[in-house]
Amino acid sequence: MKNIQAIRGMNDILPDTSRYWEMVEGLLCHVAIQYGYQEIRFPLLEFTELFTRSIGETTDIVEKEMYTFLDRNGDSLTLRPEGTASCIRAGIEHGLFYNQIQRLFYCGPMFRHERPQKGRYRQFYQFGVEAYGLFGPDIDVEIMLLAMRFWQELKIDHKVELQINTLGNLETRVKYREQLVQYFNNNYDVLDEDSKRRLLTNPLRIVDSKNPDLQELIKNAPKILDYLDYEAQAHFDGLCRILDEIKLPYVINPRLVRGLDYYCRTVFEWVTTEIRAQNAVCAGGHYDGLVAQMGGKSTPAIGFAMGLERLILLVADNLTMPNLQVIYLVLLGDDVIAEGMLLAEKIRANNKVNVIVNCGGGSMSSQLKRADKSGAAIALILGDAELAKREVLIKYLREDKPQQSVKIENIFNYF
Ligand code: HAM
Repeated sequence: MKNIQAIRGMNDILPDTSRYWEMVEGLLCHVAIQYGYQEIRFPLLEFTELFTRSIGETTDIVEKEMYTFLDRNGDSLTLRPEGTASCIRAGIEHGLFYNQIQRLFYCGPMFRHERPQKGRYRQFYQFGVEAYGLFGPDIDVEIMLLAMRFWQELKIDHKVELQINTLGNLETRVKYREQLVQYFNNNYDVLDEDSKRRLLTNPLRIVDSKNPDLQELIKNAPKILDYLDYEAQAHFDGLCRILDEIKLPYVINPRLVRGLDYYCRTVFEWVTTEIRAQNAVCAGGHYDGLVAQMGGKSTPAIGFAMGLERLILLVADNLTMPNLQVIYLVLLGDDVIAEGMLLAEKIRANNKVNVIVNCGGGSMSSQLKRADKSGAAIALILGDAELAKREVLIKYLREDKPQQSVKIENIFNYF
């Protein structure tokens, strides 16, 4: 019979890498809390309409990437492809935005039916932050600094670059869209099939195309920065001024338009040159109209999300994992099991070290082999003879030190 395998693009995270995940996720939560952000958790499944209405009918995500199905009641449900829509849904449902400033973060799996490749998967993890009730540009800077702190803590700040742009307000985009459509229509024959389709549905996305044959055309296309109204221009200038003053390096990328429809004003991405095709590690921007559009009170909003797989790819060769002290307890004979289990409990409680108890019996040498394989630094050996003297033997597995025997009641002072 054929073995059942994982679904393409959906990965198991095995014990040798889960250590990095635990560390990175722990650090991200810790840093977000340092900035006053609080965790929010929402379901993996939502009504499909939540995503079609917020992300946009003509985006890649909604057009071709969502995992959508009818459940047993005949409701159309979708596995969340991102967190922002759910965050707004939960915020409106529980009255979080009513005359309040909210700083929220979340972490968990998202689902998109994309073509899998290095750094792009069908189930992937995002860590996201969202701030509500603040217009900026101070909050824009805070959120960029927060991301920068992650990179510094993870020692990858030299591997990422901040790119920013502004999409202005809705009127700006309508005006800009007209100019773009006219420009690309004048050059219709040069466009590829995908861009011809986008010209009708979502022309801004043509500017984002990676097709090398279109680069010259895109370079000469109208730039949104030339169409900004006074307010959007002042917001963007204010952002750049603070970034300059605090010396947070950035580049303005006029081609940065983002793939989801809800953005306005500041948009940004942290990109890396280390993962070739999938270079966006973290991306976000303002979405000031979305809360009202989804039925809430008009509330300015900004946030970002980072792909944890891409982050792990970047940090894996940078991080030295803290070497937690691990003790392996060798138990020789059935009569010492109960005493051994109690001893391990006491060490765990008193000394905050990890204790692995040998289960399943075995000779001294086979238990010591398991101890070695577990990565433990120390083996504690307890047999009938030691128990009779209320002692335990300490054997160093990684250091050239002689074996010692220690009274059981003194063992807690020993570590
Ligand atoms: P996004 O650009 O679609 O934005 O995704 C954010 C990040 O998630 C990307 O920069 C990338 O690191 C990661 N990512 C996206 N798709 C995949 C994939 N298939 N495999 C691996 N990683 C992936 C959003 O999702 C917005 N909700 C971000 C946001 C929050 N904007 C405002 N607040």
